[in-house]
Order: sequence, then C-alpha cells, then structure tokens
Amino acid sequence: MRSTASFKGHPIHVILIPFPIAFLGGSVLFDLAGRLLESPALWTTGGHLVIAGIVMGLVAAVPGAIDYFTTVPPRSSAKERATKHALANLSALILFAISWLIRGAPAEAPTIVTIGIGAVALVLLAMGGWMGGTLAYRNQIGVDHRYADAGKWNEERIGDGPDPVVGRTSELEVNQMKLLHLDGDRIVLARTEEGFVAFDDRCPHRGGSLAGGSMICGTVQCPWHGSQFDVRDGGMKAGPAESGIRTHELRVEGDEIRIVR
Ligand code: FES
Repeated sequence: MRSTASFKGHPIHVILIPFPIAFLGGSVLFDLAGRLLESPALWTTGGHLVIAGIVMGLVAAVPGAIDYFTTVPPRSSAKERATKHALANLSALILFAISWLIRGAPAEAPTIVTIGIGAVALVLLAMGGWMGGTLAYRNQIGVDHRYADAGKWNEERIGDGPDPVVGRTSELEVNQMKLLHLDGDRIVLARTEEGFVAFDDRCPHRGGSLAGGSMICGTVQCPWHGSQFDVRDGGMKAGPAESGIRTHELRVEGDEIRIVR
C-alpha cells in the first residue's frame, strides 16, 4: 500500500537508505584496509564514513518511522517484521556509535575491537536490510497499486461523531476502493456494481491490507497470498484465510455516504 512519507508516490525511506548502507559498510572496509595496509588516509576515510553513515541512518529512520506507524497494516505479519527491521537497524546504529565513541576521532587508528564492533553492526544492518526488502517486495509496503481501473490511491482520515460522512457517491467508480481511518479502525469504502460497501481493511490470514488488493464483481482479493472475500457480506470465497471479514453498514443520504457507528 502507498507510503505516507512519500514524494509523488515514491517512498522517501527507500530513497534514503542506500546512503547509510553504503557509508557504514564502507567505513568497516576502509578501516580494515587501513589497518592491513597501515594507511592512515584509508582509516581516516573510514572514520569520516561512520559519522556520515550514522547521520544518514537517523535521517532515513524518520520517514521509516512515519510509515511504520501509518502505512504498515497493524496486527499483521508485516508489522512484526517491520518491528524487527527497526530494532536491527537501530541496534546497528548504536553499535556504530559505540565504536565511534571508543575511537574518538577519524584520524585515530581503528583497533581490532572497534573494527569487530563495526563488523557485528554490519551483520545487523544486513539483517535489517533483508527484512526491509521483504517488506517492500513481498508485503508491498510503499507500493502504489494501480491495477486496471482501480483509479488513484484513495485514503482519508475521518473525524469522530455519530454516523460520519465517509465519502460522496460521485467520488468512486465501480470496483474502486478508499481506505478510511476512523476511530483507530482501518475500513475500506468500496463501490460495487450494486452499490457502496464497507469492510475491515484486514485480511484474517496474516493481516494484509485489502485496500491494497484488487476488487472485481463484489470480490476483493488480498494482495499478500490471494485470499478472496465477498465484500457484501464478508464471506470467505477462497483461502488461505480461514474466516471472512467484518463488514459495516452504510447509509446514503443525497450524495453523502455515511457509515453507521
Ligand atoms: S494475508 Fe495472507 S491472504 Fe491475506
């Protein structure tokens, strides 16, 4: 599903993460080469790279945190993976910072201890990066889905109140969906050939976001493993999910669509 911290649909976190990976990976390599070749110029470069890497890691963490709280579906396998991804990368940054504090200055020769700490941090960074890749390429976090006739990504935060207005009859075409954030719930408003429907944005299999899936003829398909649900009554039509989804009652008044709460 579409990243919140994005620029023209491109997730900013993904744009920034090559910098800390390159800088921090380079810092360990330059330190190692500096020690092996007894070259102060090389290990001084490594010393500067570790500072640049920590700074860029913290900068990249900001859009990552925004997406963690607003984009990654709650109570899902992706949320668990995103938590481990964040912890691995944060631990790596802390280890790099410790190695830097022990070292003191870029021109100081790195010791076996500081290079060792950097190597461990690099392994953690690789693990975090691997999980980040799974989040992007398997869980499709940050992907702006545009399947045929789906229209642009629709997402709206709805205020509190009884039976709030969640949309207008003119804003969705048949088979288009809109993700609603309502009282802490994520609900999908959709238009079928027979009218408007609303259902939970959570696949009961592993918590995939149904708003990021595809819908046709009153059936929505989860983008993660393909479970299918009838959006009119929430019934499960195909697994691997083993149960249906919760639907919500709507009321149409003029061109206003209200959700019954
Ligand atoms: S999360 Fe597996 S099918 Fe939806």
